[in-house]
Amino acid sequence: MALIGKNAALAVALGIGAAVAAGGAIAHDDVMPKNANAATKAAYARHENFKKLGGAFKGLNDELRKPSPSLAVVRTNAGVVASQSRALPTWFPRGSGVQARPMSEAKAEVWTDAAGFTSAASNFQTQAAKLTQVAAGSDLDAIRAQTRQTFMACRGCHEKYRQEKKS
Ligand code: HEC
Repeated sequence: MALIGKNAALAVALGIGAAVAAGGAIAHDDVMPKNANAATKAAYARHENFKKLGGAFKGLNDELRKPSPSLAVVRTNAGVVASQSRALPTWFPRGSGVQARPMSEAKAEVWTDAAGFTSAASNFQTQAAKLTQVAAGSDLDAIRAQTRQTFMACRGCHEKYRQEKKS
């Protein structure tokens, strides 16, 4: 059973965009200025970190949609998702929103509702940790179900704290 109908639907839901979903880069004009300050550097580093997270999650989902998924591929991607989830809270220093990188999709609420944001991040960590546990076994239906739970944690946070911008 397909986890999520189509790759395109997943890409749209995650806001990865067709170019990134295909492995390319978005917004070619969005280059970090040479004299970037710490907040701007953090905003661009976050962009790279989310691309890595999005790529691993897409890799996981694509593998699970195959008739005979490779557990090695599933586990590697689940591991990246979990390690990124642990790091995520450090990606948002104060002042690193749109003021630091105009293309940033981080809403002001990340900082004005810091408690809510922390709780969304911690829910994601819980789901991603569970995912690596389930993926250590070989019950594909259980892995698919926990992948879906993890996706809900991505989406739950994006709904409140991310303002998608078309690029
Ligand atoms: C706790 C909140 C939170 C969670 C959980 C979360 N995200 Fe995000 N995500 C954000 C925010 C905020 C942004 C916008 C960051 C920016 O543009 O500065 C974002 C941006 C992104 C981007 C676009 C990055 C870019 O710069 O182009 C991708 C892709 C992404 N997230 C994927 C995921 C995936 C996949 C998951 C789950 C496996 C996930 N996110 C979980 C908050 C979250």
